[in-house]
Amino acid sequence: MAIREIVPHTDSFIRKRSKTVKVFDEKLWELLDDMKETVDAKYGSGLAAVQVGVLKRVFVLNINNMYIEFVNPQIIDTKGEQYKKEGCLSVGMPFGYVKRPQQVTVRAFDRYGNQFTLVCEDWTAVCVCHENDHLDGVLYIDKIVTPPAEFLEEDEE
Ligand code: NI
Repeated sequence: MAIREIVPHTDSFIRKRSKTVKVFDEKLWELLDDMKETVDAKYGSGLAAVQVGVLKRVFVLNINNMYIEFVNPQIIDTKGEQYKKEGCLSVGMPFGYVKRPQQVTVRAFDRYGNQFTLVCEDWTAVCVCHENDHLDGVLYIDKIVTPPAEFLEEDEE
């Protein structure tokens, strides 16, 4: 395994659209292993393959040390809304509020090609949306808004 270099948002590569994974082979597993090591090393909540220079529809999440891999993810349902302050390993500071669904249902494949469906809420839903956006070249800085007062985090009220 290896820690991979992060593509910064100032590099136009980060805006490219990632391609569907068709082969679930050792090369994919090595990518996923490296992404896990990279997101751990950088204390990120998630990382998309495009952020390490690979245009595959793949992202990983690290939620309270629960680590999940998503290959060819699709958000198939959303409910509600929330505003949370997001950051990104490709952007660094500043963080900014983005409007996201409160709940998302995501369908994806694991590293072996087995399909699964996961219902994610709260911060996990934010992370799924943020990483899924990366697969289409979209960054949270494109979506920063001023949240309604009730959504402001405590230190800003
Ligand atoms: Ni990001």
